Amino acid sequence: MSRILTGIKSTGIPHIGNVLGVMLPIIDIVNNSLEKVFILIADLHSLTKIKNIKDIKSNTYKIAAAWLACGLNIDKAILYRQSDIPQITELFWYLNCFFPYQRLKLSHSFKNMNNSKKNRNIGLFTYPILMAADILLFETKRVFVGKDQLQHIEITRKIAKKINNKIKKIFVIPEAKMKKNSMSIPGIDGSKMSKSKKNTINIFSSKKEIKKQIMNIHTNHNKISYDEELNNDIIYHIYILLANKAEILNFEKKILFEKEFGYEKAKIELYKYIIFRFSNERKKYIFFLKNKKIIYYILNKGAEEAQKIANITMIKIKDAFNKKK
Ligand code: TRP
Repeated sequence: MSRILTGIKSTGIPHIGNVLGVMLPIIDIVNNSLEKVFILIADLHSLTKIKNIKDIKSNTYKIAAAWLACGLNIDKAILYRQSDIPQITELFWYLNCFFPYQRLKLSHSFKNMNNSKKNRNIGLFTYPILMAADILLFETKRVFVGKDQLQHIEITRKIAKKINNKIKKIFVIPEAKMKKNSMSIPGIDGSKMSKSKKNTINIFSSKKEIKKQIMNIHTNHNKISYDEELNNDIIYHIYILLANKAEILNFEKKILFEKEFGYEKAKIELYKYIIFRFSNERKKYIFFLKNKKIIYYILNKGAEEAQKIANITMIKIKDAFNKKK
């Protein structure tokens, strides 16, 4: 058995970096997997940075709608909301007691926090342990994460090994699998696309919004020049992540040989291409958000399936920790 799991926080509308770096590659894995793949919407993790409770609720639906719009096959994947699985927070407590405080204090996610000290809640501190519960509960072998989450997988492995050695062999030791491309999708300022940097292109937003984001891509000169490394150009870089070979060739020709083809035209071309490339997904996304009942149904079905599996692990935990034999 080699179960696969991935998690995504419910913050904001998924942007093109999420779609290309996470959703489409995972959907590919789901389609080729013999076992069901676990896809968790980490709404409890989102609570650690809560600004507006309404956003947390609506973001869950937006994330679910985006997965469905991108073509996730729900017969082959279990799509569920973290807060629907009480066993996660139950297991979380047990795990808390098997990781040293001093070590957790050193975790990147805690040390590098931007929040002022006043705004730091305990949830932010214990965030990695909740993630360990997400993973260990489902006895997953392969966990798909971005590079920034590798330390959390290390923490998960440490806790699992400790309980396996000290108490009873309960857990499968998970391994991190890197999400393809996740580091290499540039935002409109050239650094990694990320909601917190406000440099995203949101393919599920209105056309007007998308156009605005694309027209704001940072550029240096009026024209992409011959001698410039094309790969360093943000517009070109995003275009080649989306288009097929013939389309890329055509775009390159325009950049290199059409006199009047400056950055502005290149941006408009990219905008048109994005609208064309994702027109189906955009339609489906709007459909699902208008028909939230379908999303409720799918998330409930996912929760039911996930809970059944979660119970099996929790019985093992209870047997090992709380029951007299
Ligand atoms: N912390 C992860 C992130 O910010 C999201 C996440 C929560 C996750 N639980 C998970 C990822 C379990 C993988 C497995 O990206």
